[in-house]
Amino acid sequence: MGRKNIILCGFMGCGKTTVGKELAWRIFYDFVDVDEHIEAIAGMSIPDIFERKGEDAFRALETKVLSDLCGNSGLVISTGGGAFLRERNVELARKSGKTIFINCSFALCYDRIKDSDRPLVQRSTREELELLFNERQPIYQRAADFEVFNQRDPKDAAKAILSSLFLFI
Ligand code: S3P
Repeated sequence: MGRKNIILCGFMGCGKTTVGKELAWRIFYDFVDVDEHIEAIAGMSIPDIFERKGEDAFRALETKVLSDLCGNSGLVISTGGGAFLRERNVELARKSGKTIFINCSFALCYDRIKDSDRPLVQRSTREELELLFNERQPIYQRAADFEVFNQRDPKDAAKAILSSLFLFI
């Protein structure tokens, strides 16, 4: 596998960050979060970017940050839930390493995000978010090299990723 990057995708609240951190320390990789880098570059929070600059500006930054991060190696990269909707982002990720879909039931994702300040959560009902979830699942599935479930302990999901990664060596 060398030091190729590992790029995680999946719906908001699926656990990309917790699973990603669990995975990263096990394989001596650094964990990075695309959203955190976007906030650092923009000098404002994601809700503020959406409100003051608009979603298109956020999406442009998302591609720039992902492209920069994908130029490195030895990273576990957590992407925002909308990143893999853009083919360009999927291409960048796939060229730089292995892409993994962190799957999780909508009910659990919703429980984790319902009280958050994520712009999509703020402006959508539970039903709308469930529709979005159902629309996006096949997109993540197509874009990823493989998927793991993160229903219970994120450590189990990280271990499942490790087992699957060994198949690629
Ligand atoms: C988004 C998901 C968020 C963040 C932004 C948009 C989306 O990231 O990038 O609010 O379109 O699903 P998380 O999936 O890390 O919550």
